[in-house]
Amino acid sequence: MIEKGKAAAPSRAGDACLLDEVSVGLKKPQKELPCKFFYDEKGSALFDRICELEEYYPTRTELDIMSRNVGRITESLGPEVLLIELGSGSSIKTHLLLDHLQQQAGYIPVDISAEHLEQSVNRLQADYPALPIVPLAADYTRPLDLPEWKGSYRRKVIYFPGSTVGNFTPEQARAFLIRMARIAGPGGGLLIGVDLKKDLNVLHAAYNDREGVTAAFNLNILAHLNRRLGLTFDLKQWSHQAFYNSVHGRIEMHLVSRVAQQVHVDGSTIHFAAGETILTEYSYKYSIREVARLVSGIFDVQRVWTDVKEYFSVQYLTVS
Ligand code: AVJ
Repeated sequence: MIEKGKAAAPSRAGDACLLDEVSVGLKKPQKELPCKFFYDEKGSALFDRICELEEYYPTRTELDIMSRNVGRITESLGPEVLLIELGSGSSIKTHLLLDHLQQQAGYIPVDISAEHLEQSVNRLQADYPALPIVPLAADYTRPLDLPEWKGSYRRKVIYFPGSTVGNFTPEQARAFLIRMARIAGPGGGLLIGVDLKKDLNVLHAAYNDREGVTAAFNLNILAHLNRRLGLTFDLKQWSHQAFYNSVHGRIEMHLVSRVAQQVHVDGSTIHFAAGETILTEYSYKYSIREVARLVSGIFDVQRVWTDVKEYFSVQYLTVS
């Protein structure tokens, strides 16, 4: 069961809040939309397809790192872990961890999509009948209220795979890490997947796949807003753009307005010039050293696992 009041159909008050977020973003000089709006049901399915693309190396590489090192990883975490997974999605990597953790205390998957969450929890619970699972449908980019844990556990470990931390700017990431350290508490840990800096062509291809799945994923954010908030974006008048910004060390995804056009949001008219863009996502890439700097004073880096090409890293951090 998903916690009452936090799941499924969002309340009207919730949607009013989302509308406000959208309107604030579209009034900035560089117009932007929060990337969490990618993940309606269709967007989550498109993301799953991205993960299987030849060009999209992160998912495959992270899974490879996890399966090669799962024994060492779970040994580092120790026994009786209460595992809290952020953005649990379709949780293949979770299976690996749960299979190897010693005397697992419980599992709290947190995901913004209540439907996605319910499906994966049902599957997991069937595979691990004895494991206490308490799912939470919530937006972890905002303050999180974790359900009170009734059972015992030795340490809380937050699992944040997929390099989703790259969606934040470094400043936002540090604020987020501080919140996570507070949730994990003294003795707690963070097992995190972080995508690494690499060849520009590899990066470019990963966000500009030949089949156009990433383009469809990017455009779907507008379809989601139209349906969810009654907006009137004309999808035919927008195109996908993704490039690596080497000054900031990040992929930027934008939607480019093909023509001069406008849209009404929350009582105001937003104008777009031809060629103007809406920023939809950052995906920061770090070096291993930059990760250490990013987390310093909040978490201590205990272990770093990578693949042979050093495309991706899985890191175990403990609360400082
Ligand atoms: C889920 C945020 C890690 O940044 O690579 C994939 C999302 N966007 N293709 C990423 C994404 C375009 C992904 N993260």
